[in-house]
Amino acid sequence: MRQRTWKFHRDLPAAQAWGYWAGQAGLGYLGPTMVARRDRPVIVRYRNDLPARHLLQDAVDVTLWKNVPGVPPDPPGGRMPEAFPTGTSVWTVPHLHGGFDAAQFDGAPMAWFTPDGRQGPVYTSMDGAAANEVVYAYTSRQQATMLWYHDHAMAITRLNKYAGLAGLYLIRDDFEEGLALPRGDFEVPLIIQDRNFTPSGALSYPAKGPSPYHPKWSPNFFGATPLVNGKAYPYLAVEPRRYRLRLLNGSNQRFFHLWFSDGRRARPFWLIGTDGGFRSEPLRLTSVWLPTAARVDLILDLTGVPQGTRITVRNDAPTPFPQGNVHLPIPEIMQLQVTEPLSGPDRSAPPERLTLRPVPALEPTPGLPRREFVLIANRDAHHKSTHLAINQRFFADPVEDFPRAGTTEMWEYVNTSGDGHPMHVHLVQFQIVNRQRFDSEAYLAAYKAWVSRGRRPEAKPVLARYLRGEAVPPMPEEHGWKDVVIAHPGWVTRIVMRFDVPDAVAGVPGSGTVFPAEYVHHCHMLEHEDNEMMRPYQIVA
Ligand code: C2O
Ligand code: CU
Repeated sequence: MRQRTWKFHRDLPAAQAWGYWAGQAGLGYLGPTMVARRDRPVIVRYRNDLPARHLLQDAVDVTLWKNVPGVPPDPPGGRMPEAFPTGTSVWTVPHLHGGFDAAQFDGAPMAWFTPDGRQGPVYTSMDGAAANEVVYAYTSRQQATMLWYHDHAMAITRLNKYAGLAGLYLIRDDFEEGLALPRGDFEVPLIIQDRNFTPSGALSYPAKGPSPYHPKWSPNFFGATPLVNGKAYPYLAVEPRRYRLRLLNGSNQRFFHLWFSDGRRARPFWLIGTDGGFRSEPLRLTSVWLPTAARVDLILDLTGVPQGTRITVRNDAPTPFPQGNVHLPIPEIMQLQVTEPLSGPDRSAPPERLTLRPVPALEPTPGLPRREFVLIANRDAHHKSTHLAINQRFFADPVEDFPRAGTTEMWEYVNTSGDGHPMHVHLVQFQIVNRQRFDSEAYLAAYKAWVSRGRRPEAKPVLARYLRGEAVPPMPEEHGWKDVVIAHPGWVTRIVMRFDVPDAVAGVPGSGTVFPAEYVHHCHMLEHEDNEMMRPYQIVA
């Protein structure tokens, strides 16, 4: 991880940015795409060579991460927790999002390390790492898909990632290769992000927020400019043939709802895969939702499109999602310009005829209770945001969730807030079962009363009594393997997942799962994740 210069647009001056491998292979922002083969482990050494001063120093909020159990909200000015790396603001830890990896290589939020070699309380690494490094073994023991790696350091993830600490991790397998998909130059990964800039072309992020408790932190951030693979409003010169587009929403919190416009209409495309791999069959769509951190694998067929055609990637998602009361639209993201002649015959299969990989429906292990996770946006008496929470706990509170290895569980995200939260669970790929409305106001009041009276288990409000109407199935585009799900406000969102754990990577001592294996789940809006909307869970033997 280094700071280097990067031009975000041809007409902007070069500015400082962060990246993995920055300064190598033309990179100055984001990181190289790692390409792994299914079942072949990859060992990555990450070194923190960042400057002592954060690229977004003015936005670093040292009052976060000191929320302590029982005393919300924090006094303004606050106190620093023991573990805070005083003297430097640049603590980092990389995480492979969607990866099936041992807990000690998962990049836990408190497993951070600094340029000068200080380390968080749960720092772990394979042998052979310097103090400002980690060496992680990734199993790649999962089907072909597009994962991504990014920073995950406690309370500063939003700034580290905003500065550029993110990259892609593709897993390939034989099945994928047998599919006759567009490949090589005709497979295009696209990392879409929203950013703000200073007039001199540098990234800007607000150094002031509306909360009196956390003077710099803000519950919302939206950038006005789209970046794709680190460039503002880029275009891609394309041939009249099929393209496989692999999209990642790498924004801090903006949702995208994307479509391809040729000026007259939305061009249909085919969805063939989601976060964790292929769908069971191709799905024809004219638009697709992309909450932050999610990925979609698409085939866009440009066969026969006349030279000179410009296809604009457009977005009409409300900001924030779903209220849309912050009016900062990004209606256009990039262009595909059909300006190249056909370089050879298109041997890819017509997308509607692809036979993809069956996705067997997961069934919860009989007898296991559902886990309820109540999403709460906390405010003070003056309606000022203090922090967000899952089950009204802080990240540092003791673990309460202990799934057993090898079991399949149903989790319910009970969203009492006004925002849609993209919820992400580490280690697993899950399936979305359904969503059901509930009486959010009444339930929240009962839940808070229960919390303030000491959480006696027998007095816990019964969610079933607050449910309203029938459960509705997920959108067709949400079928398949997911690691991010939109928890809509006023809805209970149900997901099901199996808690398998990785065993040791061959030749790497100490790489097997050690029980209890601790992972996290959280809202992937980074401003929420950084202010307590994240909880640990532990897998037990
Ligand atoms: Cu994309 Cu916990 O992360
Ligand atoms: Cu959130």
